[in-house]
Amino acid sequence: MTKNALCGCCSVQGDFAKIDQKRSGRASFESINYQESDLVFSLGVRRSREKMNRVYNFSAGPGVLPVPVLEEVAKEFPDYHGCGMSLVEMSHRGPVFSQIIRETRDLLRELLSVPETHDILFLQGGGHMQFAMVPLNLLGAAAEASYIVNGVWSKKAAAEASKFCRVSVIGTPSRAQVPHPDSINVPNDAAYLYYCMNETVNGMEFNYIPQCPDCVPLVSDVSSNFLSRTIDFRRHALVFAGAQKNFGPAGLTVVIVRKDLLGLAGETCPTMLNYQVHSEAGSMYNTPPTFAIWVANLVCKWLVSEGGVEVMDERARLRSKLIYNAIDSSDGFYTNTITPSTRSRMNVVFNLREEALTELFVKEAADAKLVNLKGHRLVGGLRASLYNALPVRAAEVLADFMADFAKRHG
Ligand SMILES: Cc1ncc(COP(=O)(O)O)c(C=O)c1O
Repeated sequence: MTKNALCGCCSVQGDFAKIDQKRSGRASFESINYQESDLVFSLGVRRSREKMNRVYNFSAGPGVLPVPVLEEVAKEFPDYHGCGMSLVEMSHRGPVFSQIIRETRDLLRELLSVPETHDILFLQGGGHMQFAMVPLNLLGAAAEASYIVNGVWSKKAAAEASKFCRVSVIGTPSRAQVPHPDSINVPNDAAYLYYCMNETVNGMEFNYIPQCPDCVPLVSDVSSNFLSRTIDFRRHALVFAGAQKNFGPAGLTVVIVRKDLLGLAGETCPTMLNYQVHSEAGSMYNTPPTFAIWVANLVCKWLVSEGGVEVMDERARLRSKLIYNAIDSSDGFYTNTITPSTRSRMNVVFNLREEALTELFVKEAADAKLVNLKGHRLVGGLRASLYNALPVRAAEVLADFMADFAKRHG
């Protein structure tokens, strides 16, 4: 998809124009007419008029969102496009939100080239709920599912699945590495093969699609690299992602599932955990997270206006390369033990040769407005999460900071 391309599936051109206008600084918050007593909003608007003092945010999630999206939300929040109320005060079954959820589905379908064989569901409960929903919905009559375990999140998913079935583990859980493709042997009668495409905590990303028999559905947790690269839906039967990294605020989970897999859940599967129920209700079986879906809708439009998922992939490679280069050229001052071909483009984990300097690194970085660089509590060290909305400039500044820190403390 090219920059400023008109999305064929919905009328988003007006919104691109608006977002572009805001990016060029021509639009302002002038049109919002508040009483001075509307304290929170008027303060927010006044602050937005001043130059924003945003930091470079390397948070692993919730993560950084595109500024034009945040500005659009701020502008339209109290009076959504002249409706006289905010979007979060409206019925989810009314025409305004119905259009937003429909459009968001269409935009995602277009951005990721999701074929009609797959449905797109907007759910809640995050990745953790998917750890249970996947087996509850896909096991059918099978007794076993295969899980590639190569990091914190796939390990957790496998543990949850073991409550429902026998789990056959592929990989060496004690040694977090993407397994060699030849080591993946999945029996024909496995209910599915599960893998986590990008292990957020361990900083590794699959550089190949795991092979399994045609009759075995392939399932992937794409929470932390969603919308940063294309996904082959001829090979993937189901992917899911918590929104709070590359797609929007926390509270929304996307599931993209092959339609012929709907309806396998057993009688005892709780209604709210049944994909078929949500599919038949157009993701409106219960009240959906309307605010999160609105923001995700704007993120989709921003992605289209930036050139789409391929452009995000290029930027992700560029950003991560800057940080990996800073690590590799530091003469061991910084270390990263991941096999280079499976280093994550989204979450760069690294350590300091002298571990005692870690706190100082985090503090000095924060003083330089480079924030949220502390590693996950389970593995320690440092982690720079480089999601779609993070400017490439942020990675350049961090790489410079790392070189300078190494020079001063090496
Ligand atoms: C790859 C991956 N899967 C699952 C999860 C869990 O997501 P949630 O907190 O939305 O349940 C995370 C959280 O960071 C993640 O990075």
